Amino acid sequence: MKNTVVTFREAKQKGEKLTMLTAYDYSTAKLIDEAGVNSILVGDSLGNVILGYEDTISVTMEDMIHHGAAVSRGAKNALVVIDMPFMSYQTSVYDAVVNAGRLMKEGRAGAVKLEGGVEVCPQIQAITAAGIPVVAHIGLTPQSINAFGGFKVQGKSEAAAKKLIEDAKAVAAAGAFAVVLECVPAKLAELVTKELTIPTIGIGAGNACDGQVLVYQDMLGMFSDFTPKFVKQFAKVGEVMKEAFRTYCEEVQAGTFPGKEHEYTISDDVLEKLY
Ligand code: KIV
Repeated sequence: MKNTVVTFREAKQKGEKLTMLTAYDYSTAKLIDEAGVNSILVGDSLGNVILGYEDTISVTMEDMIHHGAAVSRGAKNALVVIDMPFMSYQTSVYDAVVNAGRLMKEGRAGAVKLEGGVEVCPQIQAITAAGIPVVAHIGLTPQSINAFGGFKVQGKSEAAAKKLIEDAKAVAAAGAFAVVLECVPAKLAELVTKELTIPTIGIGAGNACDGQVLVYQDMLGMFSDFTPKFVKQFAKVGEVMKEAFRTYCEEVQAGTFPGKEHEYTISDDVLEKLY
């Protein structure tokens, strides 16, 4: 069954949990889609896990469109959400609508995601008014890493917690159909989840959120540069890959790969004429 914004709305009403994972390429998107995940996020985390940057600041619209379009080709049923990269929407409402439109037209997104609370509500309003579904993202917003001074849990003080609640209500009122809560104390995320009529999707925000999202390399143990506390490794795929790469090297070096079963044949008649 094709997942849409309606799936998200109905899941919230019925109290059913939503699943979201990141993907950045066709093959992985296909596997995630076939596993029955509700939504695939083409996160700007591709800056870290695909391109090897320290943060997401350098990710471009072209990066997001290139990877987003590949994911969209692999996702038959999952709702594809593509991240708006740094400075593609902060600069003006006009830029936000134009760039969200490009992610839909060229990346074939089903929705876009952007970071921020009250300050980006004019952008959320304008993008949704253009018929483009928006997922908001509050709490730890990695594009503002330089303003935060590092990757830190958000909303711990009274003022910060009140600001987070205000942001959550504001993005919902502006038209977002879901909101990602990143690195937020579990009890605060629970409160926000109860206050909102749109689903909350947590990452490092505890169990009470309406859904969860993880970066797939993190949950498969494929990315070792940095593992946040909230990550659970559901498999050690990184180890399996390394072992397969080692075995490949050994077999090539020993001359046991490729074997007869991997060869193409040519008739003896043709071969004789070559000598
Ligand atoms: O870019 C990303 O992968 C994200 C998730 C961490 C929510 O925004």
